[in-house]
Amino acid sequence: MAQVASNSSTSEQAAGAQGLQFLLNDKLIHLNHCPPTQTVLQYLRTEQNLVGSKEGCAEGDCGACTVVLGELNHQTIADERAVRLRAANACIQFMPTLDGKALYTVEYLRQASGELHPVQQAMVDCNGSQCGFCTPGFVMSLWSMYLEHQANNTQPSDIEVRTALSGNLCRCTGYKPILQAGQAMFDLPSVNFDHVKLGMQLNALQREEPMTLPSISAARIDKNINDSDVTYFYAPKNLAQLITLRTAKPEATVLAGGTDVGLWVTKQLKSLGDIIYIGQVTELHQLQRTDQGLHIGAAVNLSDALQLIAKHYPQINEQWQRFASVPVRNAGTLGGNVANGSPIGDSMPWLIVLGAQVHLTSERGERHLPLEDLYVDYMQKSMHADEIITAITLPLPKPLQRFATHKLSKRYDSDISAVCAAFAIELDHNNMITDVRIAFGGIAAIPKRATKAEATLNDQPWSEASVQAAMQALAEDYAPLSDMRASAQNRAQSAANLLYRFYLETRTEQPLSVSQLSVFNHEANT
Ligand SMILES: Cc1cc2nc3c(=O)[nH]c(=O)nc-3n(C[C@H](O)[C@H](O)[C@H](O)COP(=O)(O)OP(=O)(O)OC[C@H]3O[C@@H](n4cnc5c(N)ncnc54)[C@H](O)[C@@H]3O)c2cc1C
Ligand code: FES
Ligand code: FES
Repeated sequence: MAQVASNSSTSEQAAGAQGLQFLLNDKLIHLNHCPPTQTVLQYLRTEQNLVGSKEGCAEGDCGACTVVLGELNHQTIADERAVRLRAANACIQFMPTLDGKALYTVEYLRQASGELHPVQQAMVDCNGSQCGFCTPGFVMSLWSMYLEHQANNTQPSDIEVRTALSGNLCRCTGYKPILQAGQAMFDLPSVNFDHVKLGMQLNALQREEPMTLPSISAARIDKNINDSDVTYFYAPKNLAQLITLRTAKPEATVLAGGTDVGLWVTKQLKSLGDIIYIGQVTELHQLQRTDQGLHIGAAVNLSDALQLIAKHYPQINEQWQRFASVPVRNAGTLGGNVANGSPIGDSMPWLIVLGAQVHLTSERGERHLPLEDLYVDYMQKSMHADEIITAITLPLPKPLQRFATHKLSKRYDSDISAVCAAFAIELDHNNMITDVRIAFGGIAAIPKRATKAEATLNDQPWSEASVQAAMQALAEDYAPLSDMRASAQNRAQSAANLLYRFYLETRTEQPLSVSQLSVFNHEANT
């Protein structure tokens, strides 16, 4: 294992309470300053000479940089384990987000005896590597799955292995040997991981005070080269601190999981100025079902948020699997997806039809509004500069509600939607529509409801004639654009077809089953 050393000088250690502390392959690292947008991958490769993690794309797509992050479980929902170890993309994670966490790289896996870890040995045994560029990333994704199944004493299904590798691309080996390794590693003598010890180590790293990390050293700030050259990474610990900071710094960049913001730096080469990170704010980690519905705090990652929502709305299961990849879902948040407000964001159509509310907080207090009202025009939101999204809430399913959501894209995993659709309908006992909500992403400047199509359906029977009329009306709701993902005509036709599919799967008489309608489901069953 590589030897790591603290980067801090003696004078800086005196001011260490404000610094960044984390475990790197079991060794404590303390940094008193750090460029706020330095990526974990840059740090590992250039400052620690841990070059196992590779840079393929620098945008979270290829998985060559995959590392595993350990952190205490923030959620208030009951969880049997104190720590979570999950795959993450080092290329788009900013260094200061590591505070209080544990970072593991592929260099950690080799045993003290020099033997390979079962994950690595299985890759060798199954011929899972050729040029080797992607291999450390695959190994780390497999290791995070290994740890999860080892802790639960389970063996993954083939689908689970595929899912765990949804964020890794290999251009030469082919995937079959790697998928085989994902099973074969459980047949080798196991190597245990001490979750309890890590929990204790991480607990010792937690502190009450917020972190303020300058981009340059205190000594250089004192000499004051030029104050405007210094940027800060702020990590408030509670909501009050967050709101005070936001009020004082409405121009700072709010950072949640960084799976959008990271790319502004690595791909668009933007300077972000000061950063306010919401990932340490306790109140924003609330994730729970209440009598009113589901509450998803803005700092809850997509993996946890979608798991809870799918328990109540299993219809989002396919969307969940197809939202980016495992490492992106482990970092990204539902709040970030909603706040980014991209017209091709995948969560908004179904959140809108289910009646989600977005909660916004500032020094003036909290307000909430239906999610559809947040979006005004392309990348414009009815949100003030000093407001923070604190939560998204969803009602519980209604007894007579029929709901579905579908994503059309060229690839199954980690691809951007050409069209994303969601439908929710309520029928009375006479098959009459009492409520209907339809929303699409990818075919307008904002995620938007199909109000004309809805109007043709309201108070009508849920019948072939009604749905055909609504399909016609969709043309008045949207004027899609052509781009590299789909032509305008393809999008318009796909939108109408998806509405028809929803009718076929929810009609009262002889509804078609999921396996008759979903090519993916069909594949999984054959
Ligand atoms: C490889 C890859 C694949 C992806 N695939 C998909 C996909 O399939 N579907 C999809 O919809 N998206 C996808 N994304 C985009 C991204 O993962 C999502 O938009 C994600 O939900 C963003 O959440 P985040 O926490 O990472 O946001 P961040 O990147 O941290 O922030 C995004 C934006 O929201 C703002 N923001 C974040 N939180 C708050 C808050 N609480 N209050 C106010 N403003 C806030 C930030 O300032 C920023 O403007 C993908 C991204 C990558 C890198
Ligand atoms: S380098 Fe491709 S996902 Fe990080
Ligand atoms: S082994 Fe060459 S890219 Fe995967």
